[in-house]
Amino acid sequence: MSEAFRTKYGPWALVTGAARGLGAEFTEQLATRGLDVVAVDVLGDELQQTTKEIAERSGRDIRPVALDLSSPDFMATLGEQTEGLEIGLLVSNAAAGPVGLFVDRSLEEKQKTVAINVQAPLALVHEFAPKMVALGRGGILILSSGSAQQGSAYVANYAATKAYNLILAEGLWQELREHGVDVMALLPGATATPGYNSANPRRETERWLSVMAPRDVVTEALDSLGSGPRWVPGRANRVSAFVIGKILGRKTAIRLIGAMMHSLYGSKK
Ligand SMILES: NC(=O)c1ccc[n+]([C@@H]2O[C@H](COP(=O)([O-])OP(=O)(O)OC[C@H]3O[C@@H](n4cnc5c(N)ncnc54)[C@H](OP(=O)(O)O)[C@@H]3O)[C@@H](O)[C@H]2O)c1
Repeated sequence: MSEAFRTKYGPWALVTGAARGLGAEFTEQLATRGLDVVAVDVLGDELQQTTKEIAERSGRDIRPVALDLSSPDFMATLGEQTEGLEIGLLVSNAAAGPVGLFVDRSLEEKQKTVAINVQAPLALVHEFAPKMVALGRGGILILSSGSAQQGSAYVANYAATKAYNLILAEGLWQELREHGVDVMALLPGATATPGYNSANPRRETERWLSVMAPRDVVTEALDSLGSGPRWVPGRANRVSAFVIGKILGRKTAIRLIGAMMHSLYGSKK
């Protein structure tokens, strides 16, 4: 499997948000599948440590690039760091996901979330998709979220950015597949990462969610790449997505998600 994967999506992958959480897991599993990885994150020290460990375990070239994706000129730095490298797979994974009521959060934070979750993926895809089209092969995985499927209270702005990720990936799936480039949106549900845990969800409510391990989410994502425009990891999440998207009316779905989010995060700032 590694040889076919590397031929289609190698020799280099680029993963954002690679210091921890799903991004670190993507980096690990891509290295195991035979790819070298440009690993991007704002957390420079943690990124150094993560990439060093993955390089030692896998024997692959894992290059850390410390930069802030909310900076308008991040692509200039990244362009220099990727000069001459054939990037066959882009995993646009980094995101900001502040939790709280819309009226309690600053405009600055909301705009930064849009910069990281919308403008950065757009710039990344704009940079690397034409190169893949020229090669006639490649893959682009854009992290969306289950919250993108309907309005989501407590993460209204975040969920809206994730809807952008979903719709961008779906459109590109259609445009780029005739050029041999597989594009897919990934819509994880709750996944036990540092980012998820930092919002401090109520553990009593969490029992009703099937929180997944990053390893399982990433394995499903990489196994599914090329199978369609979107993938929801985890059987329980696929059942929920079906019920919410196809059975419940829109208002009911939004209210149900809102009640669940209130139970998870209500009265937390
Ligand atoms: N975990 C879940 O339950 C879940 C569910 C649905 C979708 N997702 C999606 O999955 C992706 C990964 O989530 P995760 O839970 O693994 O997140 P995480 O644990 O917070 O890790 C994300 C990494 O990206 C970094 N990052 C954030 N902003 C950045 C920036 N401006 N420039 C460069 N790096 C930056 C983070 O640094 P800081 O820690 O300093 O911010 C962190 O190292 C996201 O797109 C998220 O929306 C996650």
